[in-house]
Amino acid sequence: MRMIRSMELRGKRVLITGGSRGIGEALAHAFAGAGAAVALVARSAAALESLATQLGGTAHAADLSDPAQVSTLIPRVEDQVGPIDVLVNNAGIDSTVDFTDVSDEHLRTVTEVNYLAPAELCRQAVPRMLLRGGGHIVNVSSMGAYMAFPGCVAYAASKAALSQFTAGLRADFRGLPIGTTLVELGPVPTDMLAAVEEYPPMAMAFRRFYRMGLMVDVPREKVAREVVRAVTRGQRHVRLPRRSASFPILVAIPRRATELALTGIPHQSAD
Ligand SMILES: NC(=O)c1ccc[n+]([C@@H]2O[C@H](COP(=O)([O-])OP(=O)(O)OC[C@H]3O[C@@H](n4cnc5c(N)ncnc54)[C@H](OP(=O)(O)O)[C@@H]3O)[C@@H](O)[C@H]2O)c1
Repeated sequence: MRMIRSMELRGKRVLITGGSRGIGEALAHAFAGAGAAVALVARSAAALESLATQLGGTAHAADLSDPAQVSTLIPRVEDQVGPIDVLVNNAGIDSTVDFTDVSDEHLRTVTEVNYLAPAELCRQAVPRMLLRGGGHIVNVSSMGAYMAFPGCVAYAASKAALSQFTAGLRADFRGLPIGTTLVELGPVPTDMLAAVEEYPPMAMAFRRFYRMGLMVDVPREKVAREVVRAVTRGQRHVRLPRRSASFPILVAIPRRATELALTGIPHQSAD
């Protein structure tokens, strides 16, 4: 039987990266509304402090494109405020540009922020969660993980890596008290979505998908509500908008089939 790792959020601590604005800000409100203490991470110290104060949480300024800052982030936050029960890897940057104009530095930064930093934060957080009896990881990915649009080559690749990384965690954590939720989102009106207009082929591609009815904007508050519900109920996926959920479900079929084929093979440390 499938194990459901539900979690009561009241009194839990939730670390949210990219908590200064956009979807991360909505997530901070939603988790705080569910009774959790929020620990917010982003570069904009003033915005973080202001939101943290408003929500009774804490602010931890850090640049996730800097591996040195990422390498100590979880112990640093836990030393300051205590154990993290839920890690929400939400921070991300877009890369809406002709690939022939992409610099080596930009390629590296997109990969650092969108994939390597979340993976490294999981690597730091999970053993600590296990020592305390469990926890939950939320990784915020994108439709770009399974649909390629012109102008988002580096972004799509980084999000595909994050989605597959999350599937890998599930396989590795089988039998352990660690839940995972993979969030795969279509357009959500934030600063990031506004960047679509900067690269005409991508803006045209988006308009075509809107016209075909395959894409519709989802308010960030709805995303946040669904993520909180998924953590509370131990759900493994949040896929929005629902009208295009069949795409990620199709992509997930080989992952799910593999998972079923591996039934009964637990983590080496599971009881
Ligand atoms: N909006 C969409 O349509 C959409 C669609 C699919 C997936 N997503 C995903 O949803 C997540 C949130 O996106 P959003 O739309 O809310 O974006 P956003 O409005 O641009 O906000 C991005 C957040 O990430 C933080 N961030 C960016 N670079 C950082 C860095 N180097 N170090 C630390 N924090 C950094 C930003 O804070 P600072 O600038 O203060 O550092 C900000 O809080 C991303 O992972 C994105 O890929 C968004």
